[in-house]
Amino acid sequence: GLSPLIDKYLYSMRLSDETLVDIMSRFKREMHNGLSRDFNPTATVKMLPTFVRSIPDGSEKGDFIALDLGGSYFRILRVKVSHEKKQTVQMETEIYDTPEDIMHGTGTRLFDHVAECLGDFMEKQQIKDKKLPVGFTFSFPCRQSKLDEGILITWTKRFKASGVEGADVVKLLNKAIKKRGDYDADIMAVVNDTVGTMMTCGFDDQRCEVGLIIGTGTNACYMEELRHIDLVEGDEGRMCINTEWGAFGDDGSLEDIRTEFDKEIDRGSLNPGKQLFEKMVSGQYMGELVRLILVKMAKEGLLFEGRITPELLTKGKFETKHVSAIEKSKEGLNKAKEILTRLGVEPSHEDCIAVQHVCTIVSFRSANLVASTLGAILNQLRDNKGVTRLRTTVGVDGSLYKMHPQYARRLQKTTRRLVPDSDVRFLLSESGSGKGAAMVTAVAYRLSEQHR
Ligand code: BG6
Ligand code: GLC
Repeated sequence: GLSPLIDKYLYSMRLSDETLVDIMSRFKREMHNGLSRDFNPTATVKMLPTFVRSIPDGSEKGDFIALDLGGSYFRILRVKVSHEKKQTVQMETEIYDTPEDIMHGTGTRLFDHVAECLGDFMEKQQIKDKKLPVGFTFSFPCRQSKLDEGILITWTKRFKASGVEGADVVKLLNKAIKKRGDYDADIMAVVNDTVGTMMTCGFDDQRCEVGLIIGTGTNACYMEELRHIDLVEGDEGRMCINTEWGAFGDDGSLEDIRTEFDKEIDRGSLNPGKQLFEKMVSGQYMGELVRLILVKMAKEGLLFEGRITPELLTKGKFETKHVSAIEKSKEGLNKAKEILTRLGVEPSHEDCIAVQHVCTIVSFRSANLVASTLGAILNQLRDNKGVTRLRTTVGVDGSLYKMHPQYARRLQKTTRRLVPDSDVRFLLSESGSGKGAAMVTAVAYRLSEQHR
């Protein structure tokens, strides 16, 4: 078969444990750089303080709205947390479309859209006359000096609306709501999706102190000792840090492992030169990475007897969900045949096996890279605790992690190999980040009521 040939062809995508350990120590350096921002105002990995100081403690209660913007779906949720004997959560969700022209238009239009959807949601819930506390999951890098502020540093993933970078998204949303005048809202907290995910999982597992996303984008947060966070006053206790690890490599520190395909992806992206680690890992780019490899192999006559079709040459025609389908253990090869046939390349059985192999190499590399960066976080947690063996839980979400048939297992296995002195539980967030955002909002709300 073609497999040995492909292994050789994609040699630079198959990372040895030695390389992964090396990447882990590079990322560790980046983390320290980001945390000691006094010395390095332009850290590549931003390590943003979130002003979230603990995971849920079971005392949260109330009626909340959560907005969840930035992943594959724009969701609005109503989260009711009550205390009858034990804490229970009741949730209702609506999904709203965010068309591309809104994601790429003006910021004003984007926030008018968010405010309009929120109005519709409140109408449906018959709560337009109430002023419920709102938690805003906004899954982009934001500078915060308090919980209810989020100054967008830069757009990532699929968004690029004008006039938002450098502005406070809470102010922008409040303005859009005021302009309408048909309802009121009290935005109490901005949380990154990693933070929302950690909090959602923390609700079920008190040991949860890491939030991980492998979806459209990739990122992680974790609970850091306050004494290590130069940007925030105080030395007692912990605060959640949003690492924004998607930007790892933006200073050139991953050039030795980036391939020609990674460079091509970057050139054709909305944000060239940025989020270079994310572009090697996450769902927005994985399908496209595979497509670029297939095009090159076909051009060299290694696949499809050299047939190249307009479909195969079209950006976005090969999606990450196709990678997931092709790697299924039973139907995978049939799926490959189906998907490749739709691209018009008339694949042979050998071609299907070869394409499956390409998919495996690309998705395995992604899981390996995440294991390295996650490994650095786990080591940091272990050092902070001063224990020899770390016992912890990682809350995880994101379409790639959820839908890919092998991804979770590979990530877990590699992580355990890279950080052998640990017992790590990976806990899938079943309900997204909205519940966690509501938990953060509950605490913020209680504090604000106390100060009234
Ligand atoms: C969802 C969370 O479940 O996962 C979002 O509620 C998060 O907050 C998303 O952004 C990440 O995955 P994806 O695949 O939608 O980008
Ligand atoms: C991108 C965003 C980050 C988010 C991640 C996952 O990397 O910059 O804030 O957490 O995607 O959605």
